Amino acid sequence: MNKIESLYAEFIEQRDNQALRRDLVDITRPSGHEIQVKGRNFINFSSNDYLGLSQHPLLISRGQEWGARYGAGSSASRLVTGNLDVFTTIEKKIADFKNKESALVMVSGFQANASVLPALFDKNVLGSMPLVFSDKLNHASMYLGCNAANIQQVRYRHNDMNHLQDLLEQHVDHNAPKFILTESVFSMDGDIAPLNDIYGVAKKYDCFVIVDEAHATGVLGENGQGLATKADLVIGTFSKAFGAFGAYIACSQTMKDYLTNKCSGLIYATALPPAVLGSIDAAIDLVPTMNKERLMLQNMAQNFRDEMSSIGFDCGLSQTQIVPIMIGDAKEALRISEHLKENGVWATAIRPPTVPSNTARLRFAFSATHSENDLDKLIAVLKNKVVKKAA
Ligand SMILES: Cc1ncc(COP(=O)(O)O)c(C=O)c1O
Repeated sequence: MNKIESLYAEFIEQRDNQALRRDLVDITRPSGHEIQVKGRNFINFSSNDYLGLSQHPLLISRGQEWGARYGAGSSASRLVTGNLDVFTTIEKKIADFKNKESALVMVSGFQANASVLPALFDKNVLGSMPLVFSDKLNHASMYLGCNAANIQQVRYRHNDMNHLQDLLEQHVDHNAPKFILTESVFSMDGDIAPLNDIYGVAKKYDCFVIVDEAHATGVLGENGQGLATKADLVIGTFSKAFGAFGAYIACSQTMKDYLTNKCSGLIYATALPPAVLGSIDAAIDLVPTMNKERLMLQNMAQNFRDEMSSIGFDCGLSQTQIVPIMIGDAKEALRISEHLKENGVWATAIRPPTVPSNTARLRFAFSATHSENDLDKLIAVLKNKVVKKAA
């Protein structure tokens, strides 16, 4: 092994010793709510396909249709010759859906955060280095975007409005443009940011509010439009409740024009392929019609939380289709995850660095494709686990 490569090998070994190693697992999908691994079927509670749209015939057929009509790839960046006319249709639909003046489709949610945030936090454009007040539990891609911007992040305790207010007060004489950055539904906790309070402090301290709606759009809010209708700029993804791939920014026309001129992830990346755009277009048509599925999803999650608290599991502050069971120790989280697998249930153990140290957990994500039987089975297996532990 090359000397440099041995340093990477050492890192993997360390991860292994701490029960923090990750490995890729080959998966096939026999149905919307199941995965198959090494010939065995599991009910999948680790997918973000909240409405089951990834398997919807309309997403598949429109994807195929647009692929056949326009070709496999878009062949260039949107600013060169990749901007197929269907982008305009999709952006109009998503802007209307999100109640914003305008929208901009991007390649992925991760790539959007990593490239939109540095574009927004440009000190040369803003006249001085901005201050970005960000929730401590924001997604890794938001951190990456802040780091790439080389700005000073002021991190407030998760969803703690008193802390945010204190920090803003401490910086009140700081004559920099100020931003507040949060998720609306937190991906690993399933709790909701107090957005009205955030808008209140933003108004008081003259801040620009950016909200990542990855786990809210399609699932929460009127007709699934999400929760952050009053944010100055929303970042969202088509890879979760929309069942496809890609991302969007919902904002004013000015912000769209600015990002079109400044955002590296738009300027220097090939546009999304036509088949993906077809699936996105179909999902935007379907999502507002799925109130029944949304209600089912929330009821399922609530039943699960009630059952878990009755047997002493801690589901944190979850209020949504994402429900963690807090474990703490990474090895124990892996052990429970293995126990679930032995019983035909797939729930990935979420460990540091994805979550803070000593907060390893099992993260259950419900989908409209889960049946009552699936939920009953999950609850029974977890109850069995508790009995086993107590014995
Ligand atoms: C809050 C949040 N933002 C962004 C992303 C990235 O989105 P995408 O999967 O479209 O790259 C995720 C996905 O895990 C997320 O949870």
